[in-house]
Amino acid sequence: MAKTVLQVDQLAIHLSRYGQVFTPVREVSLSLKAGTVTALVGESGSGKSLTALSLLALLPTAHKTSGCIWFFDEGKNKPVELLTLSVKEIRKLRGCQLSMIFQDPFTALNPVFTVGQQVAEVTRLHDKVSMQAAKRQVIKLFDQVGLADPELCFQRYPHELSGGMRQRVMIAMAMICRPRILIADEPTTALDVTVQAQIIALLHHLKQEFNLSILLITHDMGVVAELADEVAVMYAGEIVEYTGVHRLFGSPSHPYTQGLLASVPRLNSKQVVQPIPGGLPGIAETIIGCAFYPRCKLADERCLNRPELESIITGHLSRCFYAK
Ligand SMILES: Nc1ncnc2c1ncn2[C@@H]1O[C@H](COP(=O)(O)OP(=O)(O)O)[C@@H](O)[C@H]1O
Ligand SMILES: [Mg+2]
Repeated sequence: MAKTVLQVDQLAIHLSRYGQVFTPVREVSLSLKAGTVTALVGESGSGKSLTALSLLALLPTAHKTSGCIWFFDEGKNKPVELLTLSVKEIRKLRGCQLSMIFQDPFTALNPVFTVGQQVAEVTRLHDKVSMQAAKRQVIKLFDQVGLADPELCFQRYPHELSGGMRQRVMIAMAMICRPRILIADEPTTALDVTVQAQIIALLHHLKQEFNLSILLITHDMGVVAELADEVAVMYAGEIVEYTGVHRLFGSPSHPYTQGLLASVPRLNSKQVVQPIPGGLPGIAETIIGCAFYPRCKLADERCLNRPELESIITGHLSRCFYAK
């Protein structure tokens, strides 16, 4: 069994906007294991990015959280609870132990410095090494993340690189201090399909090479199929299904997951793509019972009560009264 490196228990995030408090993430529990990719999947607005940001204490200022996030530090016998750490303590973990990459690799880079300088600066902040040593480290890592001619690349400015190369630079920046957890928020969404495939292959390689635990955030079931080991499906701020990737694609249990899978176009299939009718509940709406109720074909009066996320067989959780 792979070691658990992070465990999220009953996380809820409350934000206030215009004096009104709403809860875009209501009940999220998941665990990340070493050398394993866990995908967090769901449509736009379901609370995936906020969940990811909470792990690094990067939530918007007017927020409140409840629940716990346990980080199992190597060599320590007790886990640390991230939500209770001070800004200083969480900064020590950020980059070194938990790192993050985002959808848009262009806006994340500073246009006035070379990409090499920017990545080198990160190691220098953490490890206090000389510029020469940092440069050697960066060039080696640029090579490992598949940047051709890493020495030349070191001298390049962000605008001189393609989208795929910029994402590789961002991955290098996230990996430079050898984190144990990488949070990748829609890492391939802004890229061309062929480049997407290369970045997926790179993430797969990093997982194995460094026994890295990856939290992969995506709305794309194709990316999930290629990269994930475990999948948590999120709907309106809650996990509605959680299981291994083969089980999820082979026997999806929650009607929302079934809908997500039916809305993916497939070659060699006579089945017509079926989008899920309707949309997510509004952020300020009070949800009574099952959040998916208004869009669900199976819904009846029973679903006006709130279903729990329950085990249907070992290793397969589903939040539905009619889950099989
Ligand atoms: N800084 C913020 N202030 C107010 N509302 C926010 C903020 N960030 C996200 N939200 C809202 O919270 C919900 C979940 O957002 P997000 O986690 O970004 O979803 P996802 O990543 O799944 O698309 C959305 O309805 C979004 O509008
Ligand atoms: Mg998002």
